[in-house]
Amino acid sequence: MCGIVGFVSEKNCLEEIKGGLEKLEYRGYDSAGVAFFSKGKISTLKKKGRVSSLFPLLQGKTSNCGIGHTRWATHGAPSDINAHPHRCGKFVIVHNGIIENYGELKKELAKKDKYPLSETDSEIIAMLLDNCYKGDVVEAVREVVKKLKGAFAVAVLCEDFVGKIFLFKRENPLIVGRGEGFFCFASDSPALISHTPLLCKMKDGDICEIDKTQAIFYEEKGKIVERVFIPSSLKSDSANKGDFQSFMLKEIYDIPKAIKNTLCKFEKIGLSSLAQKKLRNANHFLFLGCGSAYHACVYGKYLTEKITPLCASAETAGEYRYRRSNLPKNTVVVAVSQSGETADTVTAVKKAKSEGAFVIAITNVPSSTITTFAHESLVTLAEVEIAVAATKSYNTQLVALYWLVSEVALMHKKATYGAVYLGEKLRSAIIKTLDVAEEMHRIAKRYLGISKVFFLGKNFDYATALEGALKMKEISYIQVEGIPSGEIKHGPLALIDENCLVVHIITDYTLLDKCLNVVEEVSARGGETLIITSLNLPDKGVKVVKIPKLDAELMPIVSVIPTQFLAYFMAVEMGLDADKPRNLAKSVTVE
Ligand code: M6R
Repeated sequence: MCGIVGFVSEKNCLEEIKGGLEKLEYRGYDSAGVAFFSKGKISTLKKKGRVSSLFPLLQGKTSNCGIGHTRWATHGAPSDINAHPHRCGKFVIVHNGIIENYGELKKELAKKDKYPLSETDSEIIAMLLDNCYKGDVVEAVREVVKKLKGAFAVAVLCEDFVGKIFLFKRENPLIVGRGEGFFCFASDSPALISHTPLLCKMKDGDICEIDKTQAIFYEEKGKIVERVFIPSSLKSDSANKGDFQSFMLKEIYDIPKAIKNTLCKFEKIGLSSLAQKKLRNANHFLFLGCGSAYHACVYGKYLTEKITPLCASAETAGEYRYRRSNLPKNTVVVAVSQSGETADTVTAVKKAKSEGAFVIAITNVPSSTITTFAHESLVTLAEVEIAVAATKSYNTQLVALYWLVSEVALMHKKATYGAVYLGEKLRSAIIKTLDVAEEMHRIAKRYLGISKVFFLGKNFDYATALEGALKMKEISYIQVEGIPSGEIKHGPLALIDENCLVVHIITDYTLLDKCLNVVEEVSARGGETLIITSLNLPDKGVKVVKIPKLDAELMPIVSVIPTQFLAYFMAVEMGLDADKPRNLAKSVTVE
């Protein structure tokens, strides 16, 4: 949901800002822009389209202090005029988030004959700063923050303070970095780590003022406070795609390593004694997440029911936050989020806590917003995931869920697979499954031009069906639905014709007959089925992709991989950018 980045340095830093924007492009790519000091004045350059379309405008320009923005449009279409930075008087701002009351604020300013140029909610921030400013930017920011409703991370340049950047935030992430002869900031650490590992995550309510020699932090009431910079654990090459054609493909091949590292970490660290106590007393698990993370939750629900005596439910965080939940006593809420910043999931976590639930977060980003609100956090080690479509982070979420739910099963003296089995058997099954890449590529070519796809699965395979469907629809823009196998006869069968492909995931032997009935039903109506299976199937005259066999509760970690490849190659064959699908962004920090 928009990325912001900036540097203030002893040297020209426009190259660093350009590099930072490229690294943040996964957060939005509708338009990009920069503002920088040049001969004591602020220059602003912005352009509709990807970050690369901005770069020609920057040729030959230099500056040692500037800010940049890459946009995911919320208010106002992607256009040059709606692109950030926005300017009013001496102030230029870039903003990530949504100002919910911008309509009211605009009306107030209109009374003073001040009108915005753009259709964005963000421009109002520059207008308010200009209106409240009496020579002290920090004071003006404090005034403005009081008026704003919504979530924001904002960087400000003021023409009266050449070589300074002012930062403030509420709910949306903002990280300040410190290096030799420079300070910098960004919405996310990958934009900074190739320059400095020393990072400080800003707190809500803090205002920060940086120049090339120092960072001064002010707390909400304006008092100067100490904030600590700590070395980031991210590797500086983790946001590079190496020899792979795209981040998504690289990230699929990262899965074995991501799973191994995640499991090793969990085995080493374990759960806190408080979490153990809460889990021992728990009688209900509620899994919450959005998109792929929600599909991981569906897996968590089936798993809990299968290997523990607890009852379990899974729900999208956006639905849970707006309903009366009547959570049973001793509910443990497991909130799953790759970024740890998804607005719906963050709010759901707050709600669950206020209802007395113990909250465990599963996220891929240490010190993300969700980890700060949850009682306990399991941080997966998938490392940075750049492609908008989640792949390795999803597999590690499933592994984290397996590990967590197994801990509960053990508390109830139920048998589970130990870390050694998972580390060896699961990993080798995954590595073998990566070999289906070529086959999936051939299949993608064969079905090019298909207009409808259904992904089917029962129980654990249903989670994979949902995830496979989401993957394909988000990067190939084909109309795809993921449904439980048995549901097809309750309506979707009406859509089956020769222009429709049914991808059926079948990995549970106990459900095989039921699933094969569905294969027959689809064939009888002229539909084509592709089966992804770990089982030995009788010949049904349909295409079968074979993957290694593990018990049903582990299969989703493996069986999702062919669906990731299928979606990827479909997008590639259609000439689409698999890493940056239209209209989407990686981290959805707005409601
Ligand atoms: O960062 P989160 O896991 O909370 O993100 C949730 C969804 O926005 C995300 O999974 C989205 O659906 C992905 N694009 C799926 O590939």
